[in-house]
Amino acid sequence: MKILFVCLGNICRSPMAEGIMRSKIGNRDIVVDSAGTSAFHAGDKPDHRAVQTNKKHNIDISKLVARTFVVEDFDRFDKIYAMDLNNRRDILELARNQADRDKVKLLLDEVNPGAEQPVADPYYGSGNGFETLFKMLDNATNIIIQKFDNAK
Ligand code: 4NP
Repeated sequence: MKILFVCLGNICRSPMAEGIMRSKIGNRDIVVDSAGTSAFHAGDKPDHRAVQTNKKHNIDISKLVARTFVVEDFDRFDKIYAMDLNNRRDILELARNQADRDKVKLLLDEVNPGAEQPVADPYYGSGNGFETLFKMLDNATNIIIQKFDNAK
């Protein structure tokens, strides 16, 4: 299974999700990456608060580099997890067909299906929003791993 996490900048939410997910893969056949719907931060390293928060949990995302979501990502990935409703809308605008659209899901739909709940953008908030964010992503990625294992 190939999983792509997508947020706006690819410097906070989605690289944290990528790092957390990667730390749980073990020997499972799972590939993980992340991207942003905007090019604002393309080429940048993750936000220092995202790096610090993951580091506290022994996950190193300091070497990740932000990139923009591209239409080819629909071919490269099986599941495309949007962090919020704007990210989902922007991804869906690039979808070429129903198969593309079917790959796109809000991340927290894995936690509360149908609730249309966003992973809020922490960029302009204070530092401790990142710990809450970590827990949210930790929980969601546990559920993805559980589902993967149950489907085998
Ligand atoms: P992210 O957070 O989408 O979780 O990476 C943001 C990072 C940067 C900006 C917005 C959100 N920005 O507007 O620069």
